[in-house]
Amino acid sequence: MGPASLRSVYPGPGGFDPKEVKREFPIFANNPDLVFLDSAASAQKPRSVIDGTAEYYRTDYANVHRGVYRLSARSTERYEEARDKVRRFLNASDRREIVFVRNTTEAINLVAQSWGAAFLREGDEVVISELEHHSNIVPWQLLRDRIGIKLVVAPIDATGGLDLAAFETLLSRRTRLVAVTHMANATGALVPVERVVALAHRHGAKVLLDGSQAAPRLPVDVQALGCDFYAFTGHKVYGPTGIGVLYGRFELLSAMPPYQGGGEMILHVSFDKTEYQEPPHRFEAGTPDIAGAIGLGIALDFIEELGRENIREHEEALTGYGVDRLAQIRGLRLLGAGQRRLGILSFDLEGVHPHDVSQVLDQHHVAVRAGHHCAQPLMEQLGLSGTTRASLGVYNDEADIDRLAEALKAAREMFLR
Ligand code: ALA
Repeated sequence: MGPASLRSVYPGPGGFDPKEVKREFPIFANNPDLVFLDSAASAQKPRSVIDGTAEYYRTDYANVHRGVYRLSARSTERYEEARDKVRRFLNASDRREIVFVRNTTEAINLVAQSWGAAFLREGDEVVISELEHHSNIVPWQLLRDRIGIKLVVAPIDATGGLDLAAFETLLSRRTRLVAVTHMANATGALVPVERVVALAHRHGAKVLLDGSQAAPRLPVDVQALGCDFYAFTGHKVYGPTGIGVLYGRFELLSAMPPYQGGGEMILHVSFDKTEYQEPPHRFEAGTPDIAGAIGLGIALDFIEELGRENIREHEEALTGYGVDRLAQIRGLRLLGAGQRRLGILSFDLEGVHPHDVSQVLDQHHVAVRAGHHCAQPLMEQLGLSGTTRASLGVYNDEADIDRLAEALKAAREMFLR
């Protein structure tokens, strides 16, 4: 389906028919009973991404930035066009601020090992929060072990949101970086990142936002947010796996040393000395995931075509419906997500292990994630070993939530008779 016909699916602002959108995702035709509620782990792929990636391999494939022949030039053009699409998606001011990486994890490791190791000193503080995914904890611990930075953890409040007042008290002139999630993967809590950025900057600290869960669900404008780094991953925005993005303000990226060395990131190499390329190529050593970047660009086209405000409205409405439906299930406790929750319903079914819940749901063809969601410190803080997590995408509708609720009732019956 091309852009024009996709647009017809959306009659106007707020007009959003997930049933029509679902038809764009071949996985559902091939698994007709599937209720897919695990998009926070990885979203399904629309036909345009699957076919567009294959079409690129069939028509324009060659290595990029290397060949002087026309096919390589065409491939390079398509790869760089994908970078432009990402720039627009984030509203970055300069295409050189967009670095292609493997995923959010690699983006954060890049900042830690390049910017962090070059510009932080022993005793400098990096503030994270209790809401973080392991990918925004462990890279800073590795840096701590390497150069002796101090890791400071901002707590959540009783509602499950970031405790902004406590966060503010942790900031000082020793704070050099605040690295927090835009939206918590384990609970769906939206973090008031505008406030976080303002407070951090007031103390002279840089800000990195982990946008893995926010990028598929919200309009993101890095200039309006004022953040210094923003990371997201392709496979959660309906794009391919193995491709992700680091946005960094150009001034910062251009002062940062390479993260990895190899082909593509150099200007000149001799055995004595190597001169590096400017960003973003300085940070893209080796042959990149060319098809992944092109597929990501197609996925962003798909999202823009649906409309990011439409997607937000859809997820908000469906999240609200889910909260109400789950409240009707006896013994089910929904995890708090602060003032605003989006697209994620994480819960505990009293007396039933999340893995058992998830297995019963699977028998009902309902796919959810169960466990600690790579957020073990948060689970410990909440006194849980894990939860069951249903997460939404553009193809979900109320009928999916109803199927989830029915399957949960069955799980309850089975274990708590
Ligand atoms: N980070 C992904 C999740 O939350 C894998 O499930």
